[in-house]
Amino acid sequence: ANWFARRNQLAGKKVIVTAGGTVERLDPVRYLTNDSSGKMGYAIAEAAYMMGADVTLISGRATIAPPAHVHTIQVESAEQMLEAVLEHFHQADIVVKAAAVADYRPVLQAKQKMKKTADQLTIELEKTTDILQTIGEQKKGQFLVGFAAETNNVEQYAMDKLRRKHCDLIVANDVSAEGVGFDVDTNVVQIYNAAGLVTTIPLMQKSSIATQLMEVVAACLTEKRR
Ligand code: CTP
Ligand code: CA
Repeated sequence: ANWFARRNQLAGKKVIVTAGGTVERLDPVRYLTNDSSGKMGYAIAEAAYMMGADVTLISGRATIAPPAHVHTIQVESAEQMLEAVLEHFHQADIVVKAAAVADYRPVLQAKQKMKKTADQLTIELEKTTDILQTIGEQKKGQFLVGFAAETNNVEQYAMDKLRRKHCDLIVANDVSAEGVGFDVDTNVVQIYNAAGLVTTIPLMQKSSIATQLMEVVAACLTEKRR
């Protein structure tokens, strides 16, 4: 039993949260990554835990420590994150994909440090697997929450991702807005379902956004059961 739980709307639910940014290696000392502090995803993992859920956090690189008490699996690349998600996905009730997954990785990963020789260097990249889309296509009753960080046409891109990746909800934010972004402690989000905008959570601490988001998820699950 989770003696720290303040509310129990998610008691008995298995929740997977992905967070942080993936790291795609070029060689042992160089890599490509995305801007991501991990703060939003970690706050969601913590909020779900506080609501009584059994949480597994699958985390790429972040700038803060993962929440205490939450079972955390550290991964590096998109491929490793995919593997970890697939391993836990079948037992899950809810999956929240807050991670900033690299869209491309170097085709070749050098085993040894690359040496500077030519004046120009071209690095060939290939697409990574879309983790959310993969589980969206395989889901059997799992409730899927995706993220969309956009700089323009937020609603259109968010709704497009919701449909393409078979998500139940998409949490969208306009990363060009004030108080929103990767390394700040606040955020503003719009939550969409297949019918359109569900709610806007105004500018507040990521911890409060996370609690409100998981309350929306809990309400959707109750709705689904009726
Ligand atoms: N995502 C994923 N696997 C990837 C890329 C993205 O699971 N290889 C997930 C993210 O964790 C997020 C959602 O898909 O929940 C949307 O990510 P985003 O980068 O906004 O969308 P993309 O489909 O990658 O499209 P684009 O970057 O071109 O906007
Ligand atoms: Ca992307």
